[in-house]
Amino acid sequence: MGRVNEPPRLPEGSFAAWSRDRLAVARRGADECGDVWQLEPGVYVAAAAGPCEAVLRRGKDFPKVPSPLFPPLKRSSGARTSEERSHAHAARMRGLRAQAVAARIGEIAPGTARFVDQWPAGQDVEILPPVRHALAEVGVRYLFSEDAPTLLPFAAQLFVAREVLVRPSRWVWPRWVPTPARRFRTRQQVAFTNALRPIVRRRRSSGRLGDDVLGEMLRPSSRYGLLPEEAIVDTLPGITIATFETPSRAAGWILLHLARYPQAADRVAAEAAFLPADPAATTSTHLDRLPYTQALVREVLRLHPPSWLLTRRAPRRTQLAGYTIDAGSTVLVCPYTAHRDAREHSEPEQFHPERWLDDAGSPTKPGVFLSFGTGPHGCEGAALAMAMLTLLTAQTARCYHLSEPPGPEPSHQVTTFEGLTTAGLRLRATLRS
Ligand code: HEM
Repeated sequence: MGRVNEPPRLPEGSFAAWSRDRLAVARRGADECGDVWQLEPGVYVAAAAGPCEAVLRRGKDFPKVPSPLFPPLKRSSGARTSEERSHAHAARMRGLRAQAVAARIGEIAPGTARFVDQWPAGQDVEILPPVRHALAEVGVRYLFSEDAPTLLPFAAQLFVAREVLVRPSRWVWPRWVPTPARRFRTRQQVAFTNALRPIVRRRRSSGRLGDDVLGEMLRPSSRYGLLPEEAIVDTLPGITIATFETPSRAAGWILLHLARYPQAADRVAAEAAFLPADPAATTSTHLDRLPYTQALVREVLRLHPPSWLLTRRAPRRTQLAGYTIDAGSTVLVCPYTAHRDAREHSEPEQFHPERWLDDAGSPTKPGVFLSFGTGPHGCEGAALAMAMLTLLTAQTARCYHLSEPPGPEPSHQVTTFEGLTTAGLRLRATLRS
């Protein structure tokens, strides 16, 4: 007999199955156990919209455990204060908010258009590497404007370091062990920081701080004053990777859907016909005229949220959806199952972009949407991500019909380890006549 109020558990052996196929076990847990279930003692899964939102919003009961991919480098200047962290966060948010993104659509669109222009049509190509490269150019440019070319090669190396670091391994080393992957990460972080520091100093000494995210971080705030240089350089490696890593996972899913749903792709192409021939002339007004494309991006993110499982802790005993959550346990929030809940979305397994539009074709907000998280740690870059992905989708569909390679080989493998990904995705682009 379990304790009273204990969330239901899947039968013995499910934890082993989890390491083989996490999506399948997440679905089974939600189907067989309900809105909150237990994967093993002390590991709970919030599987439905209500509990997922509650965990993400109740930041004090369910804090996010800081696991920075690029922890601050060790220096004599000491750890960042919470005030510095708040200042850095507020400055980033100013640079990344929807209004700021809307003002810079003309800088984003040429980068996504270049990806489309460079796609080698008529052959099966592995498409995630060029997508990632293009979105890295867009993201790094968004953060650093004219200083982007200097930093881009270092950003690419940060990405390599991250890939090596998160590769599944048989051993989980304590955080303080300097494994080869961690030493490589630190070297790349130092190289990025060394390239960034002269840019920070030059901008500060010239007084030309810049109208980009770095510029926002260099501006003194009336509340916190000037952010120390170390706080700026420590925070930027992680954000730099964030501008293109998850967006390129999302782009993989979107391109796959353009290939699998040609009618939806035709509808995107029809909308995209009104984009200006010169991508640099694209504005937020053009983006507003792509409601179906935006709905398609949202629908792909609903069905395949790249961040499909978010981790929180419960430091104290608490309640969730009527269940007791033990102190010291882990709570996994699963947007993937929450998005496939028939109480939230009709025919939840169907790809149906129109669900995000009202009868007049305008955007609506039906049902829960947690692909960008919510609450105190919700995604800082959601507006930038939506702009990049909408433009990439529209420009691709305007130029090409996409298809999966013929034959028995699947076009990709679904991997879940560090986000939901179409690993190895191969597609063919044929020019639209
Ligand atoms: C399709 C693209 C993206 C998706 C699906 C996505 C998803 C998410 C999700 C689900 C979270 C919450 C994580 C949690 O609660 O544990 C998050 C956090 C975050 N995202 Fe994104 N993201 C995307 C693009 C971006 C971009 C372009 C940036 C650019 C800066 C960005 C920056 C961040 C940051 C800094 C956080 C951490 C917020 C915090 O911990 O307070 N993301 N993202």
